[in-house]
Order: sequence, then structure tokens, then C-alpha cells
Amino acid sequence: MSTSSHIARRAFLGATGSLLLPQAHAQSGPVEGKAPNMIIHSRRPEDYEMPLDGFLQAITPVESFYVRSHHYTPQVDLERYSLHVGGEVAAPYSINLRDLKKLPRVELVGVMECAGNGRSFYAPKVPGLQWTNGSVGNARWAGVRLADVLKTANLKATARHIMLDGADVAIGTMPKFQRSIPIKKAIDPDTMLAYEMNGKPLTPSHGFPLRVVVPGWGGDCWVKWLTGIQVLDHEFDGFFMKTGYRHPGKGVPPGSTVDPAQMKPIESVHVKSVIATPRDNATMGQGTGRIAGAAWSGEVPLAKVEVSLDGGRSWSLARLTSSNGKWGWQTWDYAWNATPGVYKIMARATDANGYAQPAEQEWNPSGYLWNVIQTVRVEVMPMSAAAYTNSCLGCHNEDLIRGQKLTRAQWEREVDKMMRWGAQVPGDQKTGLIDYLTTKFKP
Ligand code: HEC
Repeated sequence: MSTSSHIARRAFLGATGSLLLPQAHAQSGPVEGKAPNMIIHSRRPEDYEMPLDGFLQAITPVESFYVRSHHYTPQVDLERYSLHVGGEVAAPYSINLRDLKKLPRVELVGVMECAGNGRSFYAPKVPGLQWTNGSVGNARWAGVRLADVLKTANLKATARHIMLDGADVAIGTMPKFQRSIPIKKAIDPDTMLAYEMNGKPLTPSHGFPLRVVVPGWGGDCWVKWLTGIQVLDHEFDGFFMKTGYRHPGKGVPPGSTVDPAQMKPIESVHVKSVIATPRDNATMGQGTGRIAGAAWSGEVPLAKVEVSLDGGRSWSLARLTSSNGKWGWQTWDYAWNATPGVYKIMARATDANGYAQPAEQEWNPSGYLWNVIQTVRVEVMPMSAAAYTNSCLGCHNEDLIRGQKLTRAQWEREVDKMMRWGAQVPGDQKTGLIDYLTTKFKP
């Protein structure tokens, strides 16, 4: 775009939306404390998605870990903070963080996945945040067992569900985000109240000072800024239990509506793998290629990841490259000798019960638990052709090049000129690229 048309367009925007313009500017750019390439779905409330390259890391750094918030992020003052435990207990009590930390410290690596991860892929579309793959992350959590906190309060025999409440405040007249989990999962020795994530105190976006960690279960149960635990003799009947976060338990006809009473609250997430590299529609040079990503499961542990290069006709085992325990995700890798051609690369994870990711996705009204086998289309080219596509077709199309019928010496000078202008040509591919240009576009 020329400078003058750029200015003209800005002026036009200014004239029609001058009040909105400054705000739009304040709303752009990276978010403080977050990785610059985070996918921003919403800044208020905070909803950020991890980009695809996050699936190459055994542990997700806090700044790239996805954030999902139903309400604005509260700033909790530790001096005034306490957690209250009440309801169906003999000895209700409140405890500050210093005293809570006197309980035995426990740690685990756990994957947390939003129940709506992958929602944007559903057709027909469903309302809700349009996550692609990255509303999931894998961190090392440290804190205390929820069971220990409950034991101090002395549960009554009537205790059935544990309602979890945070310091966040509902926006407008929307219902407060509150969840309950069944007592069996609550007293599981791996269910925690975490005060640390990857060795550091939680950040405000991730629930400072305390969040619930419910290994294997959807992120909706991992309540942040925890201030209240209410022991109930029934499943909590708030909006986010009785209407939100419910799944029919089976596929339903795409586009249909289902009475929430006919659905159940989401608990365990499903086995799943994501391919981080190569990217969909990538072009690559022949030779040794790497297919890699991460895979995880819910209540039932992950057993294996397989890769297909031929659209699912044949499968080979991928190598698991991390050891993140029962609740963490595992990174995986597959080396292949890529020969020229077009490939439909797939990754399929299977859990310890033998349940594998499906080839077709069943539909549900809120777009939860997306876990169909992912496919990426990749074109493998002879090395020189790949260097040409990757180095020369980024700033302009082939038409600018095709018209030139140059000698080898001229192509050499042309490539040098383009490299001075910013073309990236790997040193070991330059000669092959000049050969390729000379043969393809000769005088
Ligand atoms: C960083 C951006 C960039 C990359 C990458 C790039 N070019 Fe260009 N190239 C340009 C621009 C800009 C022009 C147009 C210049 C003009 O019209 O004045 C151009 C023009 C050309 C032309 C027309 C003749 C000329 O010199 O103006 C040829 C041929 C060409 N490029 C070849 C290549 C080849 C081969 C590669 C890969 C090695 C490549 N380009 C990579 C920016 C790039």
C-alpha cells in the first residue's frame, strides 16, 4: 500500500469512528506478562490461547499457558486473603495462605484443557470462545491436597459435592462462575489446591493465590482465586453446572438443541494429540523431516501416539520424548525420510483402555471435547524447489520472477540482490537454488 493511501485510510477511519479509534489502539499489541505470540481472544475478561509451537515443550511456560476467565481478573490482597471451608462439615473454618502452606506440600505435572478447546472446528458453528488447538497447557503444580483441607473440617456423612468459589465477581447480571466436583474426585490424593505453577507463585491470570487442580478433568473445574469451599449434600445447581459445561455423552445431530437436563456435567477430558510441526499447508525440502507435538488423556492414562503419512491407511508408533507422569502431557516425535510428494500427515493418540481418537468428530451443542484425529497437508519438494518456494515466494509471487529469462551469472547476481533485500537463503542451498532458477527460467 502506498503511503498516501495509507494516510487516506487512517483519516477515513478517524472521521467515522474517532471515538473508537484510541480505544482500539489501547486494545492492540501484546499483553503484559504474556508471550508475544499468544492468540488473544479477549483482554477483558482475559482469554488467551497458546500458539501451536507450545506443543513442542514438555512443560508450558507460564507466559504461554492459556488463560480462560469468565469474569475480570481480581487482584487478591494476601494480607486480607483467607479460604473459608463450610457446609456439610462438623468444624467449618477459615485459613490464610501462610497456615495453609503448613499442610504437607504435594506436586504433580498436570495438563489442564478447556472443555471448549477446538470449538472453532465444529461445523455447524456453536457460540463460545473460538479456540483452535491451544486452550490447553501442561504445568508443574505445587500445593496441598484438597483432601487434607477437607479433613480438618471433618466432613459429615451427608457430604456429596464440593462447591468451589473464587474471589472473582460476576459481570453485570450474569451468573457467578462456580462449580462443584463430586466428593470422590475431591478426596482423590492427586486433587490439589495449588499455590505454585512451575515453581513460582501463581500469577493473577492463573488464580493467585490459590487454584484448584483437578487432574484429568476439564479446566472448568480448576477454579481460580479460590476463597470458598462449600460442602454440599447434592450437586451444586448454579448456572455453570446445570446449564453450562454439559455434554450429551454421545453425538447428537449437528445443529440440534438438547435440553440441559438430558446432558451431564463435563468431567474427564478425552485422549488427544496435536501436531505442532509441520504446519498445515507447509512446503518442505526432501530429506529427514520431523513430525512432533504433544498428546494427553484424561482420567485414563495415555498409552501411545501413532503417526500416519498416508491419510490414515497405515500407522507407525511415535516416540514419546517426555516423562511427565500419569497426569501430564507427553511430547512426541517421529522422524521420517521425506521424499517428494503430497502427504496427509495424521497423529492418533490412544489411552490405556484402548480408546483411540476418532476419525470423525461427533457434534454437541456447545462444542466441547473436540478430539478428532488432526490432519496436516504437507508438500515435500526436491531440496532446490523447496528453497525456491521458501526463500523466494514470500515477498512476491512467481510472476515477478517468471518474466526474467536470465543466465546463470545473472541469476547469481539477482539472488545476491534479493538476499541484500531480506531474502533468507540457507548457505548450503544457495548453489542448488541458482541451478534451479537457471534451469527453470533460462534465456
Ligand atoms: C524480502 C522480500 C523479497 C524476497 C524474499 C525476494 N524478493 Fe525478489 N523482489 C523483491 C521486491 C520488493 C522486488 C520488486 C522491486 C521493484 O519492483 O522495484 C523484487 C523483484 C524481483 C525480481 C524482478 C527483477 C528485479 O530485480 O526487480 C526478481 C527476478 C526477483 N525479485 C527474484 C527473487 C528471487 C529469485 C528470490 C529468492 C532468492 C526473491 N526475489 C526473494 C523483494 C523480495
